[in-house]
Amino acid sequence: MSEIVVTEDIVGVAMQRLCETHDVRFEPTLWNRPDDLAAALQTAKAIIVRNQTQVTRELIQQASQLRIIARAGAGLDNVDTRAAAEAGVVVSYAPSENSVSVAELVLGLMLSLVRRLPAAWQDTRNGGWDRIGFTGGELFQKTLGIVGLGRIGRLVAQRAAAFGMRLIAHDDFVDSASPQIRELNVELVSLPELLAASDFVSAHVPLTDQTRAMFNSQLFGQMKLSAFFINASRGETVSEIDLLAALRDRRIAGAALDVRTSEPPAIGEFEKLDNVILTPHIGAFTHEAQERVVETVCRDVAAVLSGGEATSVFLIKSR
Ligand code: MLT
Repeated sequence: MSEIVVTEDIVGVAMQRLCETHDVRFEPTLWNRPDDLAAALQTAKAIIVRNQTQVTRELIQQASQLRIIARAGAGLDNVDTRAAAEAGVVVSYAPSENSVSVAELVLGLMLSLVRRLPAAWQDTRNGGWDRIGFTGGELFQKTLGIVGLGRIGRLVAQRAAAFGMRLIAHDDFVDSASPQIRELNVELVSLPELLAASDFVSAHVPLTDQTRAMFNSQLFGQMKLSAFFINASRGETVSEIDLLAALRDRRIAGAALDVRTSEPPAIGEFEKLDNVILTPHIGAFTHEAQERVVETVCRDVAAVLSGGEATSVFLIKSR
């Protein structure tokens, strides 16, 4: 039985080092076999996961030797952080290491939507040369509505500003008077105002009970017919049935989804539409981001197992 269990495909120089110096069970499909996972955790002192392993209260309570849960990424919606705190298990994560990569993907998706890049590539590879048919739009002077002005939302704002976009945002938790927000030149507005004014609406909210399926028919109905919706945050923040209807009925112009309610998703209705771009949750998947993410969590695991302290620790805020 190994002291460290890696349940998803998490690789890199730091992981290599960890495997050379520790007893690591590296099993990228373990997340999908809950019974085997529970058995592996009976003796493990550390578990390293991405977003697919459900680190539940039950699992944590059964893992009596567990000292650290390391999440190779930013979102902690798959880890019961409260149960970990109660059990005295450290939760380490990588809150900012992949933010730039996600923000860059969002800009890429916006350009892909407005210039129809995937369709233009498909057509050209099939022998087409339809310059007029692929006449697109500019980002310049368009309004970007950012729902959630956290780390990634802010990086998206900075990059969109370079394209000459007008920036508005909705976030109940940011202080509009803070120097960080004022520097961004983003106007904070209500959600209905944002939806009505935006040419692009980009979702940057964490998955919580409040945000689950928040992007529903009511919200899509408030967007412009010409607007695009982008989601590189969490699939479960969107009601996929409602989004499908909005896209089919041309209630909005199009959508780009890097995340889905179930991953990998079953091939279904989105794939049939010509106003959708789908990518396989690759926001964080650049070589640079992954090196940083894996370095952070492997360093923390090694530190805790040798009796030291983790440095990138998630702490539950008291309400
Ligand atoms: C994150 O939460 O950091 C990203 O969605 C990437 C991931 O889940 O691996």
